[in-house]
Amino acid sequence: MHLPDEQRYDKMAYRRCGASGLRLPTISLGLWHNFGGVDAFENMRAMLCRAFDLGITHFDLANNYGPPPGSAEENFGRALRADLGAWRDELILSTKAGYLMWPGPYGEWGSRKYLLASLDQSLKRMGLDYVDIFYSHRPDPDTPIEETMSALDSAVRAGKALYAGISNYNPEQTARAVAILRQLGTPCLIHQMKYSMFVRTAEEGLFERLAAEGVGGIAFSPLAQGLLTDRYVKGIPEGSRASKPGTFLKPADVSEARLAQVRALDEIAAGRGQTLAQMALAWVLRHGVMASALVGASRVEQVEQCVGAVKNLGFEEQALRQIDEILAAG
Ligand SMILES: NC(=O)c1ccc[n+]([C@@H]2O[C@H](COP(=O)([O-])OP(=O)(O)OC[C@H]3O[C@@H](n4cnc5c(N)ncnc54)[C@H](OP(=O)(O)O)[C@@H]3O)[C@@H](O)[C@H]2O)c1
Repeated sequence: MHLPDEQRYDKMAYRRCGASGLRLPTISLGLWHNFGGVDAFENMRAMLCRAFDLGITHFDLANNYGPPPGSAEENFGRALRADLGAWRDELILSTKAGYLMWPGPYGEWGSRKYLLASLDQSLKRMGLDYVDIFYSHRPDPDTPIEETMSALDSAVRAGKALYAGISNYNPEQTARAVAILRQLGTPCLIHQMKYSMFVRTAEEGLFERLAAEGVGGIAFSPLAQGLLTDRYVKGIPEGSRASKPGTFLKPADVSEARLAQVRALDEIAAGRGQTLAQMALAWVLRHGVMASALVGASRVEQVEQCVGAVKNLGFEEQALRQIDEILAAG
């Protein structure tokens, strides 16, 4: 077992997730990329242990993370057995079901059949009795939302999840999901949404809705998959996400116009005594509704740098205006 740093909880800030009793680390680590069957296990172990040493208590998974799908959960289970399992009560582990996981009509979307079977599979892969948060990964236009929410409620009542969450739901779908879950007696803990300086859709009604309902927010891809860092300033490096086939960050996304914005933002970050990655995380965390920024990483140093963001989370009005101007110019 890994012997964690005894000072780990002094290095991180924790925020209450909505109106719940649960506090999340302001920086959480997601296992979407770089934790699959194609990746080096020793590197994953090192990132997970270092993250825990830095006060990251929340690790986010989904049934389909890999590649191949399911392998991130298997690797995480292996790392728990090797390193972190003794600290299970200090960890918030989440998984999700919604995207394609197995063939046939019961292997994706939002039916009760799929969600509950998928959760059982996830628990098995990770070697867990329960996850802390179980998410509906995406809304399903063809399944009554009541059915999807009742599956989340059942997972909680069966003791297989402690809390229920939703991801990628728009403000109207969120309002309905939250109301149904409340009626069922399993309040919606959290909404996981895509949010970064480059993707601001959540500002169009979702944050207001979450604040009104007492649901916490966690921002995924807060670094725009690496664009909001120094990763691409000198081109597309070998091994980076944009260099890999089959990812959602394409070489065309690393455009000259984007890089011009990145350089301008980097100057503001430098003036704050931060890296651009750190300022990008502070920026998503400036909303009161945001409990955590959910980063990905391919190496230990990235995790360390991201956690460094908590040293300066405040913004002057003028800096926010300057950032808005740079983003609008894009
Ligand atoms: N609910 C959903 O639908 C959904 C969708 C997507 C993601 N998520 C969750 O959100 C998590 C984070 O998403 P994401 O990986 O796209 O987040 P991200 O933090 O925007 O991007 C992570 C990537 O940025 C680069 N990076 C991170 N820190 C860096 C640093 N300090 N300096 C330079 N580069 C740095 C790394 O790229 P390289 O790999 O190139 O080094 C890393 O893989 C996922 O793991 C998953 O748990 C959820």
